[in-house]
Amino acid sequence: MHTLEIKDLYASVETKEGRKQILKGVNLTVKSGETHAIMGPNGSGKSTLAYTLAGHPKYEIEQGQALLDGQDLLLMTPDERAKAGLFLAMQYPVEVPGVSMTNFLRTAKTEVDGKAPAIRTWTKELTEAMKRLKMDPKFATRSVNEGFSGGEKKRAEVLQLEMLAPKFAILDETDSGLDVDALRIVSEGVNRAKEKDNFGILMVTHYTRILKYIKPDIVHVFADGHFVKTGGPELADELEERGYDEFMPEGASESALA
Ligand SMILES: Nc1ncnc2c1ncn2[C@@H]1O[C@H](COP(=O)(O)OP(=O)(O)O)[C@@H](O)[C@H]1O
Ligand SMILES: [Mg+2]
Repeated sequence: MHTLEIKDLYASVETKEGRKQILKGVNLTVKSGETHAIMGPNGSGKSTLAYTLAGHPKYEIEQGQALLDGQDLLLMTPDERAKAGLFLAMQYPVEVPGVSMTNFLRTAKTEVDGKAPAIRTWTKELTEAMKRLKMDPKFATRSVNEGFSGGEKKRAEVLQLEMLAPKFAILDETDSGLDVDALRIVSEGVNRAKEKDNFGILMVTHYTRILKYIKPDIVHVFADGHFVKTGGPELADELEERGYDEFMPEGASESALA
């Protein structure tokens, strides 16, 4: 059993208009096997939270901790965080021309585990995982995400999740831009990986439709840089019906913040 504990996290970013505080006192505890949905309006800081936890250098931590089994991730380099068991599926996965998917995955697995995976079982596992995600075997030799469609990038993120078997997975809008079939395939991939490795999930999403496939235990509303409400799965239905208006800062409209 592992625990990820985010405590009183404040973070800011340098913008053209000067330094802007985006995370404003984030508190959250996730345990192995739990799925937390993090829902909120555009521009509320959900991706910033994901990036800050993963160690993106743009986001400066002003205060707070993110303890994975008591060790503060925020004091580690991004690769140390991955080795500690944190995984991020990005909202906009990055293209890495010149690095093939197989090389990338094998290198990542070797780094995360501290030893190279046995070649025969690895190749077999990778081939099977790709097949289940309905990815053409040709993708193995293509450069990471280069020229992939939106849906293919999301599948590639889930492939990484399956192969790397983290302790905690942050899925940042893994549902965005997917048609119904792709959404199902991607969700099944997440569920399969979770069944095998029992990791904790922080599932960032703007819409409730992915929650039909990946069932959250706990639903949080994230607005203006911190959590403003927590509830059970029924909270997602309320949000679907009523939107995020009641959680927006006074006078702000969603379009103004998007
Ligand atoms: N690198 C950055 N440079 C400038 N502004 C940023 C940067 N990252 C985030 N922001 C701003 O921080 C706010 C939160 O963004 P984001 O975390 O992407 O929100 P969400 O994922 O909830 O839609 C937005 O107003 C966005 O413009
Ligand atoms: Mg986002």
